[in-house]
Amino acid sequence: MATCEKVEYRFLGRSGLKVSNICLGTMTFGGSDDDVAVYQCPTRSDEDKAHTILNRYRELGGNFIDTANKYSYGKSESIIGSWLEKQKRDQVVVASKVRFPMDKSNVNAVGLSRRHMIESCEASLSRLRTNYIDLLQAHIWDNGVPLEETLRTFDDLIRCGKIRYFGVSNFCGWQMQKVAELTKLMGLNPVVSLQQQYSLLCRQSEWEEFMVCRNEGIAVLPWSPLKGGLLSGKYKRDETPDPLTTRIGFIHTDEKKALSVAPAWSKYRDNEEFWKLMDVIGKIAANHGKTIAQVAIRWLLQQDVVCSVVMGATSVQQIEDNMEASAGWQITEEEMKQLDAASPRVTYYPYEMIWNLNGPDRFNPFNNSVKI
Ligand SMILES: NC(=O)c1ccc[n+]([C@@H]2O[C@H](COP(=O)([O-])OP(=O)(O)OC[C@H]3O[C@@H](n4cnc5c(N)ncnc54)[C@H](OP(=O)(O)O)[C@@H]3O)[C@@H](O)[C@H]2O)c1
Repeated sequence: MATCEKVEYRFLGRSGLKVSNICLGTMTFGGSDDDVAVYQCPTRSDEDKAHTILNRYRELGGNFIDTANKYSYGKSESIIGSWLEKQKRDQVVVASKVRFPMDKSNVNAVGLSRRHMIESCEASLSRLRTNYIDLLQAHIWDNGVPLEETLRTFDDLIRCGKIRYFGVSNFCGWQMQKVAELTKLMGLNPVVSLQQQYSLLCRQSEWEEFMVCRNEGIAVLPWSPLKGGLLSGKYKRDETPDPLTTRIGFIHTDEKKALSVAPAWSKYRDNEEFWKLMDVIGKIAANHGKTIAQVAIRWLLQQDVVCSVVMGATSVQQIEDNMEASAGWQITEEEMKQLDAASPRVTYYPYEMIWNLNGPDRFNPFNNSVKI
């Protein structure tokens, strides 16, 4: 059986909380007939399988578990709850989220309003069978609510002990900066983390959001580090992915259901840039005696803004494979450059201009902490 030598623990941004640099994502725990295709995927985990995965993750040193009220409409949280009550609660760091609609018949069961945030947090606590959530995250921005209301509510939840820290997810640059500034202006607890899609196949947040994180000391928690499994190396150019044993294969049966977490196979099957990237990852994996998934995750862990990678796994083997990326080895600087060059990156105006015209000679450590 594969074992993980050791796991690295890192501070969650500027907070004093330490988390393992591999976080266990639990979006595939449970299942529901909801419109989100991942919840229907045959590889999802029922309670028994999920508990086996959680146990193995803990045995290997992981202490950080990510869920959301939305995942299978609370089933993911309930499955974690029935496991958590048998654990030493203080050894585990639990993150959840709020924002998406939880009851379509109730116009108030959605969003980042004071009322829904408090109700949702209380419902999450009851499903998780605990009296505090370590990190509560805004799942996406809410256009309908003043940010002051949301930030004050996060602060109140911290002050009354229902949550320990707050973070955000899927925010863009100006939204992040606004959160950072307003919490300072209002004297509130700061935002500690940004959970964002980030992988060798999704690098858009490097342009803006991660600049804010670097400057403000906010931890980046990449989600879909393997782009739904595409970066695991298990898919082959001339083979149709299996719909019963893989997420990509399941989505391939009805690509109208494709999402960023469940990409369409047809988008990658004939994409030369993707296969070139896979070749580069494959060579680096061979240099180190590692797997393709481990290199893809390691690349993220060697980014300065990244704190912990939120991985998904549908079996113990995947947990063991992915956690081997945590510590004890490094991708070399030269290999990092090769991965950087091979991974597709769209250059938007004005970022390219800002980057090109602010080279190392314009970096003044007394002025700013953002090294472009
Ligand atoms: N904040 C947000 O909006 C947001 C959005 C999405 C996800 N997330 C979080 O991020 C977590 C991870 O997302 P994700 O599941 O999309 O991550 P991912 O790592 O990109 O994909 C995980 C999937 O890839 C396959 N896989 C994983 N490791 C493998 C390995 N070593 N070898 C072969 N196949 C492997 C498994 O699917 P199959 O076995 O089915 O092929 C697994 O479910 C979620 O659980 C959730 O906590 C957050």
